[in-house]
Amino acid sequence: MTQSTMIHHSPAWQRLAAHADEMRDVHLKSLFTEHSGRHARFTRRGVGLTLDLSKHRWRDETLSMLLELAREADLERAIARLQNGERVNLSEDRPALHTALRLPPEASLVVEGEDVVPDVHETLARMQAMVEKCHAGQWRGATGRPITDVVNLGVGGSDLGPLMVTHALADYRPRDVHQVDIHFASTMDGSQLADYLTRFNPATTLFVLSSKSFTTIDTLSNASTARDWLMTRLADGGQDTEMSELVMRQHFIGVSAKPERMSEWGIDPRHQLRFWEWVGGRYSLWGAIGLPIALAVGMDNFRELLAGAHDMDRHFRETSLEDNLPVLLALAGIWNVNFLDVRAHSILPYDGRLEYFASYLEQLEMESNGKSVTNQGEITPYSTCPVLWGQLGPNAQHAFYQLLHQGTQAVECDFIAPVRRYDRVEDPATRAHLKAQHRLTLANCVAQSRVLMLGDEALPSDVPRPSHKRYRGNQPSTTLMLDRLTPRTLGALIALYEHKVFVQATLWDINPFDQWGVELGKQIASETEQILASRRGAETLDDSSRGLLDVVWQAQDGI
Ligand code: F6P
Repeated sequence: MTQSTMIHHSPAWQRLAAHADEMRDVHLKSLFTEHSGRHARFTRRGVGLTLDLSKHRWRDETLSMLLELAREADLERAIARLQNGERVNLSEDRPALHTALRLPPEASLVVEGEDVVPDVHETLARMQAMVEKCHAGQWRGATGRPITDVVNLGVGGSDLGPLMVTHALADYRPRDVHQVDIHFASTMDGSQLADYLTRFNPATTLFVLSSKSFTTIDTLSNASTARDWLMTRLADGGQDTEMSELVMRQHFIGVSAKPERMSEWGIDPRHQLRFWEWVGGRYSLWGAIGLPIALAVGMDNFRELLAGAHDMDRHFRETSLEDNLPVLLALAGIWNVNFLDVRAHSILPYDGRLEYFASYLEQLEMESNGKSVTNQGEITPYSTCPVLWGQLGPNAQHAFYQLLHQGTQAVECDFIAPVRRYDRVEDPATRAHLKAQHRLTLANCVAQSRVLMLGDEALPSDVPRPSHKRYRGNQPSTTLMLDRLTPRTLGALIALYEHKVFVQATLWDINPFDQWGVELGKQIASETEQILASRRGAETLDDSSRGLLDVVWQAQDGI
């Protein structure tokens, strides 16, 4: 699109802008009294999920105009181009084919002359062999003892997806296998790793080095500390060549799109799992990057996760825009950000197993759509990704809900909860208690979105209240209910958000699959590290940075 054909010049955008002028002062509570049955009109079901969008500040005609906007952006064709493997990642000139990672084995997807499905399934089969070996207690460390602890070393997409899913599916851990505990170390300062190194036995610890690029300094620093720890403790600091070889072979698995870099680092080719440049880092948990998930829950459950995501891919591709869950979720966001000036978005799961879901979405949404230049290189004259953050809803009620209820910021909220829980708890008394806790949690989930919508009117009587006890309400929210949190519904939930991000990017005409914004910081950090270590070149820095390095040097000198 050129300036004149940009989306904000389109007829639908103009109509929406005029409509927003009418809607801006309409309070959510009054929309509920206009017509009965608002929940039914704005709720859609599919793929084990129920999406209630009735608590948004919109009417039927708003949604029609948004759907028209989506059609003007040629969304249906964009969805097909994504899933067909066309080069939708323009700045890096490649496809973005995370959907191919969850295609069933009998499918075929020819991308630039090659069917990618056999390669995908070959990697899954290699993962399965590794998982089964660990679960049979047959993956042995250098001294011959079975592995008991696996530490994933990775950051961003090579950490957040596996961490989030492993935690969410902890109930699905197989019991009848050799037990292996899964841990994650991501931070470059080594604090997570340092803790593991004091507690774990090197003879029974396996490291998974997860890095698409295999150049990420955070991961490589952790990896080199881990390698030294193993060598010191098991191979006489590398003097014992036979043990050194065994350490490298038996204590490291590499996962990357760069096999040659894994080999250079010393990963045995038999223990390398690969994925492809056409899988974005934050979209990669569905393949080899998901190894920690498969180790935690077993390969059958991992395949169920893929099946759930594939269900959502099909829904996204085959369902009309009017009933399409990712499309509707995205359009609610566009309406809030671009027309109602709601530029903050909170993710609030009402289920402790989704503890890391908000962190995962922070990367997925903000690294994908935190952009201000269109695919044609023009500055976007409209807002794009809102600031997105979150926390487990019940805990956030005791932390930042104060701002949601009485602060000055307009915030869009996503409430997420499973309808059923604890059916598999064996002891009847404990099950009854836990089910009561689940009921309490669901009640809180529904109550909070209600108070955010209605404000004071949620109270039965209109008794005058002092101003510090007033609730303004009018905060828009989505409620997303899962039948149950299972590998399959979780797969669908994650894919829902992936596709939501794609829909918004399509309408904003930005590329959700690159992340150039993170590069300059890496380069400057590397230069700064050289100055910090050598104490030379600080005069080239700005006054604040120079002053801060001085503080460090003075501390090092004991001044
Ligand atoms: O720096 C950002 C980033 O490239 C993310 O996009 C990515 O998920 C993360 O770093 C880790 O990258 P890699 O998997 O290449 O180590």
